[in-house]
Amino acid sequence: MTHAARAILPPIAAARHPGGSTGPMLWSTFWQEFNLETVPHERCYIPGDGRPIVDRHWAHFAATLPRSAQVIDLACGAGIVGSTLLRCRSDLHVTGVDWADVPIARVANLEIHPWVCMEQLPFDDGCFDAAVSLYGIEYGDIAKTAGELARVLKAGARFSFLVHHQESEILREGGARRRAVREALSGKVKAAFLSGRLAAVDLQRQRLKAQFPADPSVALIADYLRRNIMRTRAERQALWQKLAADFDPELSLLLHLERSAKSPAGMGVWLASLLSGVTRTSVSLLRRASGEPIAWIVEGVR
Ligand SMILES: C[S@@+](CC[C@H](N)C(=O)[O-])C[C@H]1O[C@@H](n2cnc3c(N)ncnc32)[C@H](O)[C@@H]1O
Repeated sequence: MTHAARAILPPIAAARHPGGSTGPMLWSTFWQEFNLETVPHERCYIPGDGRPIVDRHWAHFAATLPRSAQVIDLACGAGIVGSTLLRCRSDLHVTGVDWADVPIARVANLEIHPWVCMEQLPFDDGCFDAAVSLYGIEYGDIAKTAGELARVLKAGARFSFLVHHQESEILREGGARRRAVREALSGKVKAAFLSGRLAAVDLQRQRLKAQFPADPSVALIADYLRRNIMRTRAERQALWQKLAADFDPELSLLLHLERSAKSPAGMGVWLASLLSGVTRTSVSLLRRASGEPIAWIVEGVR
């Protein structure tokens, strides 16, 4: 998620997607940041060697599905899971739903429905042979989603969900990023900037750069504040407000990420809700070559 970092390059660009702070609007902002001309069928970032391991997981799952199976992808984003399944099995039909204004992939047998909540699916009863989700189902209300899965899946339909793990690198990176940006926009830094004293801003700038040497936005924010310290107080106030607003969507999404991720104990509670709609589940871990978790694998049968 780099949109906020780009947004503060002077002059601070007007937010391209003003819209409330509701989930669908936030995620729409996220998806619209990608340039689909240069990066077709963009997807959420998976660090390290995670992406090929995730792709292999979907290839294995695709191989287990009946001929011409109808598959639903919950919280599909730009449809990366559907595209991966269809590369392995062109006879499948994948229907993706996402509550955001996600880009529509042009892939044969892949149909994407934006603005659709997984808790309220606009499909007939028993019309899917399988369900998948990659870093998606855990963002929603699992009890309601389980009810919808029970309704739209045929008896015996299989599902495979890759769910955020609290100890994955994605979560570690996300947490570090959130801490860094929050500190750069903290009351201490704001007070230094609004004081109009160059020495005060420099002190904060040095502290932030020392504390978060690897975060590009922290350095950008610190340098930006220093460059604008000579402005009037009213201008500085307006710039600060704009800065905070520019980073707000990213901070909110990072919070969504943290809340969606499951610890071992949290997974137990979540599974109990899922089991209200399906008959069998098994849980295991998808791991990187280093052994570190990439995701929980939650699989089973309707
Ligand atoms: C981390 S992204 C993953 C997207 C996609 N599965 C991928 O791997 O690229 C999470 C997605 O969940 C969607 N989402 C969150 N809550 C949702 C809900 N209740 N119903 C439908 N989609 C939801 C967001 O809009 C976002 O696109």
